[in-house]
Amino acid sequence: MAFPEGFLQELKMRNDLSEVAAPYVTLRRRGRNMVGLCPFHGEKTPSFNIYTENGSFYCFGCGVGGDVISFIMRIENLDYVDAVKFLAQRAGMEMPENSYDDSMSKLRRRIYEANREAARYYYKTLCQPLGREGLDYLHGRMLSDRTIRHFGLGFADDDWTSLTVYLKSLGFTEHELVSANLAVPRRSGNGVFDRFTNRVMFPIIDLRGNVIAFGGRIMTDQKPKYLNTSDTPVFKKSENLFSLNNAKNAGTRTLLLCEGYMDVISVCQAGFTNAVATLGTALTVEQAVLMKRYADEVVICYDADEAGQKATARAIPILRKAGLLVRVLTIPNGKDPDEFIKSQGADGPAAFKAIVEKSGNDTDYRLQRLRADFNLDTPDGKVQYLEAASGVIATLSSAIEQDVYATRLCKEFGVDKNAFMTQLQKRTRRRDRESSRREQQKIRADLSGRNDRINKDKAKAPRSSSAEEALIVYLIRNPDAAEHIAGEIAPEQFQNSLMRRYYEYFLNRIRDGRDAMMNVTADFTADEANKIYQMLGKQAGIAQTRQSLEEYIKVIREESGKLKRDDVGAMSGEDLNRYLEQLRKAKK
Ligand code: UTP
Ligand code: MN
Repeated sequence: MAFPEGFLQELKMRNDLSEVAAPYVTLRRRGRNMVGLCPFHGEKTPSFNIYTENGSFYCFGCGVGGDVISFIMRIENLDYVDAVKFLAQRAGMEMPENSYDDSMSKLRRRIYEANREAARYYYKTLCQPLGREGLDYLHGRMLSDRTIRHFGLGFADDDWTSLTVYLKSLGFTEHELVSANLAVPRRSGNGVFDRFTNRVMFPIIDLRGNVIAFGGRIMTDQKPKYLNTSDTPVFKKSENLFSLNNAKNAGTRTLLLCEGYMDVISVCQAGFTNAVATLGTALTVEQAVLMKRYADEVVICYDADEAGQKATARAIPILRKAGLLVRVLTIPNGKDPDEFIKSQGADGPAAFKAIVEKSGNDTDYRLQRLRADFNLDTPDGKVQYLEAASGVIATLSSAIEQDVYATRLCKEFGVDKNAFMTQLQKRTRRRDRESSRREQQKIRADLSGRNDRINKDKAKAPRSSSAEEALIVYLIRNPDAAEHIAGEIAPEQFQNSLMRRYYEYFLNRIRDGRDAMMNVTADFTADEANKIYQMLGKQAGIAQTRQSLEEYIKVIREESGKLKRDDVGAMSGEDLNRYLEQLRKAKK
């Protein structure tokens, strides 16, 4: 059950990775390769590489790598079969018939369909007498019918099976409904019941217009206030944003980041369609990277309360690291955007516009917040504040930016700028030292394999693992050396079980006359396939000569001899013979 390799070969040939990636990444040519800012993690200096000779990519920053299929899987959030379909369509190719397992892809499609029908059902219920309570609630929150329709809001009634019964009548199975998290299995194991009851419903829609999940708000003070769809095959709450489907068409590269559904809807009703919200979790790196695809600047519009301010402090560095400019909205009188707009009556939209325009950038915000911690009426308090402020300014990466804030503060407090700059430079150097120490720690941990989740044997045998990795890369790059290598090293001589699997896999393929890498994305788990591209990416700049090959072989033999020596006592007769044979080979 796999795609014919001839088909995959043509698919890859007709979908040049640099061209496929171009809408998502701004690429610059560097030698034979292309580089750009990685679309899979936040960064300001490009470490995302496309190797044009073999159509693969690798990011030195986050360690993600793959081919054109895995690129589309990641960036479009598709499974393997759907990514292949996506690329086939792009290249105008027919899909081969019946040769692949698309059960996962079918289930995902069914979940989208069930969600769409559920959204229609909830909306219809809202407009009926049964939904009166929900409609009154939304009207009470000042939402117009137009807004309700625009967001497709709905109502889940008080009956525990109404949605389930309805969707079953349309042909959906219980398995599909449970997979969509629209229904939950009964504890008795007998049948299912609705996930959402007696709540107003907020559909969450992805960038392609699919309904992927729901949030449901209870209309009283009961808990939990909001219930959200759990993660499903089509929905990961940490990777999606509410209303990004609207915001991406707002015609601006600025997004307003709100705390919740109601803020977004209310802000949108006031005329700002560029509002989004996280889905009941703190902002994640993935969400920030996603925003960067549609925006250059984010205005954080969190609640003015303490929790909101804490969340703002957490969000600022995440957004910055994704390469976004950040501003922070200050809402008067401890309100959230929704309450603020309403409190202004008919002037709501204009008043909100005014505070958005007035919102300062993140550095202004942090310096301003810091003031509350010190008594600026006393000389001591001023000194302490300035020291703390220099800590904030030291986190800025641009010297010009640092200078602007330093100048302003010195002027305001009447202090000597030279003295302040000396202090600041000390802090900046300390920051640089710390970050380079962290970097080195990371590199050391990577080399030792301590952080390698899927390659667990690496830490146990780092020397042989490195040689084994290098040998595999050599083999992939030089398939004509396969027979020579196979004659020198048997799979059993590998210490690292993952590398041994790769070795056998690639050796077999090459000996069968097939392209080594063509089917890696389908034949291995995502992590294992990624690891192979990682190995290729890390060696990309390094020339591997025939001489280096002999060195890898020597190391692998030495290490396999060494390790086995400890186990000789425990060996069976057969193993012992094989071991002696290996030793003889190694010595010749
Ligand atoms: P808030 O409690 O600030 O909600 O939670 P809100 O937007 O002001 O809601 P209203 O105005 O009382 O209706 C912010 C967000 O946190 C998530 C939701 O996504 C909500 O929009 N949340 C909150 C939950 O997921 N579950 C909860 O029980 C509460
Ligand atoms: Mn609110």
